[in-house]
Amino acid sequence: MANSSILDEYKTTRIEKEKEIGNRKLRVGIIGTGWIAEDHIMSYMKQPDVEVVAFADLIPGKAEAFMKNWGQNGRVYMSGDELIDNEPDIDAVSVCTYNRQHAEPTIYALKHGVNVLLEKPMCVTLDEAVEICRAEKESGKIPSIGFQPRFDENMKMIKKIVESGVLGRIYYIQTGGGRRHGIPTPRGTSFIEEKTAGIGALGDIGCYSLDMVLNAIGYPKPLTVSGYKSAYFGTNPKYMPCKEYAEKFNVDDFAAAFIRLEGDIVLDFRISWAMNLDTPGDTIIMGTEGSLRIPSTDSWDGSIGGPMTIYHDVCGVETQTTVPPVETNGYVFDLKIRSFLDAVKTGGKAPVPTSQIIYNQAIIDGIYRSAKAGHEVEIDIPEI
Ligand SMILES: NC(=O)c1ccc[n+]([C@@H]2O[C@H](COP(=O)([O-])OP(=O)(O)OC[C@H]3O[C@@H](n4cnc5c(N)ncnc54)[C@H](O)[C@@H]3O)[C@@H](O)[C@H]2O)c1
Repeated sequence: MANSSILDEYKTTRIEKEKEIGNRKLRVGIIGTGWIAEDHIMSYMKQPDVEVVAFADLIPGKAEAFMKNWGQNGRVYMSGDELIDNEPDIDAVSVCTYNRQHAEPTIYALKHGVNVLLEKPMCVTLDEAVEICRAEKESGKIPSIGFQPRFDENMKMIKKIVESGVLGRIYYIQTGGGRRHGIPTPRGTSFIEEKTAGIGALGDIGCYSLDMVLNAIGYPKPLTVSGYKSAYFGTNPKYMPCKEYAEKFNVDDFAAAFIRLEGDIVLDFRISWAMNLDTPGDTIIMGTEGSLRIPSTDSWDGSIGGPMTIYHDVCGVETQTTVPPVETNGYVFDLKIRSFLDAVKTGGKAPVPTSQIIYNQAIIDGIYRSAKAGHEVEIDIPEI
């Protein structure tokens, strides 16, 4: 009975939403017109049911140049708030600002009834993540977080393997990855300065590794974390593509942590933007009936570094089963945009929900707090 009323409610919302939008195009805005905004506009331009009507950037002239460069005819603004205030009919925005400016425009948009596709990481601190979730609850609008690897078939396969039960009960996970020399400065210093990025390798690629394994095992709640972070490479001009950026570098370029999760599971994590090593290790998911090895990558696009292997016993014989990489039908960025638009159109659920990603953010927040304190810390997530 309870289930059928939830289903009825869902059907009613969907029908009402579809009636409200009808055959018109969805009106979308882009807040922050830097590097990743290019992927958003490219994907929106491929969607027949979308018009990108507004663009905002804090840097004078940047939003207008971006709009013209992409052959669009819209309105331009100097901030996310200004865009939301002046576009009462907008359905959704992509928040493509640097990490420190993720929470504020997202909360503002949600509170003004606008759905949000928010780039990853969700934000910088757990407090900000809580505020985003509260704004979501208050508004009933959708924030979805920009984890495009979720749409890759290999990432889905990892989840399917865990859910199939072939690994038994999961008790230990090792994950992470990184690059030998790969500190990102694609358009200046927004990834490497505390005032814009807030977090370094952890927020850039660490959040993907965490999402890969946490999503596979159903996002159990994190309980404690003992974390470490360092910045030996970013602060050294010899590892920087632009030597003078080393002086500005003040986030992490390496982080490691031991995280306890609900369900008596431990997660051993490390992530690196630069190191004197090829890889800090494969991802492994160990279970009572079998274990899975996933050759590591920095995983931004969901790719894996080669075939995966399941180690298990078959009729008492130690067996290794190879799972070859799977082709994804479509580009993960397009799939991320499309899934968000479909949720907006139908009043459906966020494809990458904050209810999960708040745990990802809580771990990142815990690693920073623990590294600062020099000992293990508890993760305490307030009531939303
Ligand atoms: N999903 C992915 O694969 C992927 C790839 C790269 C970057 N990202 C994420 O995207 C975000 C942006 O990265 P980027 O490389 O495009 O950065 P960027 O520095 O190139 O662009 C960010 C832009 O946002 C603008 N901005 C900041 N606050 C604003 C505000 N309140 N209103 C309007 N404009 C504002 C800045 O002026 C800047 O032009 C980061 O959080 C990053 O982690 C995701």
